[in-house]
Amino acid sequence: MVLGPIHMAYILAALLFILALAGLSKQETAKLGCLSGMVGMTIALLATFAQVDTATGFILIIIAMAIGAGIGIYVARKVAMTQMPEMIACLHSFVGLAAVLVGYNSFLELGGSAAPETITIPVNATADEIAALLEAAGAAAAGAASTMSVGELNTHLVEIFLGVFIGAVTFTGSIVAYGKLNGTYKLRIFKSAPLMIPGGHWLNLGALVVSLFLMIWFMASDTPSVAPLVIMTLIAFVFGVHLVAAIGGADMPVVISMLNSYSGWAAAASGFMLSNDLLIVTGALVGSSGAILSYIMCRAMNRSFISVIAGGFGNEGAAASTDEEMGEYRELKCPEVAELLKNSSSVIIAPGYGMAVAQAQNAVAQLTEKLQARGIQVRFAIHPVAGRLPGHMNVLLAEAKVPYDIVFEMDEINDDFENTDTVLVIGANDTVNPAALENPNSPIAGMPVLEVWKARNVVVFKRSMNTGYAGVQNPLFFKENTAMCFGDAKKSVEEIVANL
Ligand code: TAP
Repeated sequence: MVLGPIHMAYILAALLFILALAGLSKQETAKLGCLSGMVGMTIALLATFAQVDTATGFILIIIAMAIGAGIGIYVARKVAMTQMPEMIACLHSFVGLAAVLVGYNSFLELGGSAAPETITIPVNATADEIAALLEAAGAAAAGAASTMSVGELNTHLVEIFLGVFIGAVTFTGSIVAYGKLNGTYKLRIFKSAPLMIPGGHWLNLGALVVSLFLMIWFMASDTPSVAPLVIMTLIAFVFGVHLVAAIGGADMPVVISMLNSYSGWAAAASGFMLSNDLLIVTGALVGSSGAILSYIMCRAMNRSFISVIAGGFGNEGAAASTDEEMGEYRELKCPEVAELLKNSSSVIIAPGYGMAVAQAQNAVAQLTEKLQARGIQVRFAIHPVAGRLPGHMNVLLAEAKVPYDIVFEMDEINDDFENTDTVLVIGANDTVNPAALENPNSPIAGMPVLEVWKARNVVVFKRSMNTGYAGVQNPLFFKENTAMCFGDAKKSVEEIVANL
């Protein structure tokens, strides 16, 4: 088989996408990974352009791309690092919506050409030519569906039905994820605490069973009807909302990677509907890497993969607790924290979402240099879900040029806290909450956390006694060896640097 230039370009693009994924798995190669992805996408776009055979099609694509790129550039320049997860959820919702629209378009194309066509027969046409013209017109009038074999038609209908279902779940699920991550919307489904409707899991199961029957109806009739497709789409929209609304704040990282995976499968389904090999490969890469990431995250957080993808199945008992009475807490001012650090020989810094909000990473890097200059050992402890997106803290620390060799994953450093003089918790909360290990009824129960309280001294930098993302009060703040340093993390760390 001889491969044409388009196929060669597709294979090259797919290889570059695989290299991009491999590159992104390590900090040192992440930039190269991004570059591979960008080159791959450019090749994919050029190959797509090369296939457009009408001037109108070309102009329409250029206009659509100019509008999309304009909005994309504007939003990307405006969005803060802390808003990235919301933006990703928003982009996932677009992929889902695109799969729904492609599905409906494919369905309409099946029956859309069924309308009778007017044919022009030249006056001097022979009998054979007239027969050929009539035959061609007849095939077109019977619609694209009738030009397919029964097997091909059934496969195409399954592609349409599944593509629309996955796309619709991804669309509304991602919108709810967007609202939960944004955290400013009043609607209950957008709250961080899980929305547990009585019998909710039975509703989920019912939605799946009804959708299965609708698929049978969709495929059983000779001329496929739009009714089962529309009913299933509405069910899938509600299913997506319910599935994600039922997930508690602390499990949102898994939901994000899961929706990432769904968006990949939705894109792959679109690829099947459009018979586009590259879209199938790319969608499958995103879908499977998202699924692997979800699984890794579930293991890191000691969560059941099935429970999370089934909308928190088995977590009914847990509820957020914000107003528990925990006792007294101690406070230290920045000059006192500086004194404590001067008297320490080992320091571990545990950053969290608050460091990203305060944009304190450069001040933290300066503090690290100052302490190292005094001969104090400084290391960083990174929880797998610290911040709001996978690798959030690593990105910030890399931006501030903190050397990679003093940045440790939770599993690598968790045993070292007990031999450490001082831990600085900078804007972290849920990821250092001992309730995860001590309180089986806590919404974060079972989640591994950085065991910072085992150090001789702990200083927590935050602005108030407010809870973290999961809405759970933190007993760490009330321990004897813990002191609170209130204020914006950047300002506090800068003041400490000035005092060192
Ligand atoms: P969180 O539990 O979210 O706590 C962040 C803390 O930072 C808050 O308690 C807040 O307290 C403090 N803060 C905010 N702005 C600050 C500022 N300017 N200066 C100082 N402190 C500030 O953080 P975490 O420990 O990183 O945990 C992450 C949470 O997000 C987990 O529940 C995780 O499951 C969830 N999540 C993670 C991801 C991923 S993939 N990483 C995605 C979605 C959700 P004050 O308001 O009192 O200042």
